[in-house]
Amino acid sequence: MKISSIIFDLDGVIVSTDEYHYQAWKQISDQEEIYFDREINERLRGVSRMESLDIILSHSDKSYSENEKRLLAQRKNDIYCELLNKLSPDDILPGVIDLLLSLKARNIKVAIGSSSKNTPFILKQIGLTSNFDAIADGNSIKNSKPDPEVFLLAAKMLGIPPVECAVIEDAQAGIDAAKAAGMKAVGIGSAANCLNADMKLSDLTNLDIDQLLEVNEFRS
Ligand code: BG6
Ligand code: MG
Repeated sequence: MKISSIIFDLDGVIVSTDEYHYQAWKQISDQEEIYFDREINERLRGVSRMESLDIILSHSDKSYSENEKRLLAQRKNDIYCELLNKLSPDDILPGVIDLLLSLKARNIKVAIGSSSKNTPFILKQIGLTSNFDAIADGNSIKNSKPDPEVFLLAAKMLGIPPVECAVIEDAQAGIDAAKAAGMKAVGIGSAANCLNADMKLSDLTNLDIDQLLEVNEFRS
């Protein structure tokens, strides 16, 4: 058996939106006088918007009502979306286009599996919407990574059994979600340090496609 579909995380795999997330959360934390730095920002990788907010608010002494939290998350998203207007195909990360072309040439199905509710907007900005056979994102799931829901949904949309899917991720939460879904997990960037990743790479430029499409003999 071979891997017959690849599920891509979006933020940090297809496109780098980290800086925009950081800038938007930084503005909110400064306004609220909450300590926030790039190290805390790293912990938000792959985590849903509301869970990200909870991590940020854990550095505050004040307690926030559910309604205040909803308004803060909305303010952050307004700032973030304004910044996303600057995104263009130039922001697609190195190796992505070549990999998508190689996978298409081999008839391998490709999907997005992202926690972001802004997935449709981001894909439109970088001009890749029509390159994916399925898009599972934060708008269609209840449980965010490390729950496997988004990847299982992507596999279902593709009509491919999870065991034949490989996930490419830049976050520990995403690697955990892929393993929980029974899928092969490829860690890139900061996820190259994840102990439970099946393949580890600094970025997508030096990816060995034959190795990517091999099913692991021993699955954890
Ligand atoms: C993930 C990002 O892809 O999406 C997280 O890695 C982010 O940092 C999450 O919090 C949710 O994004 P959005 O766009 O729905 O606020
Ligand atoms: Mg990511």
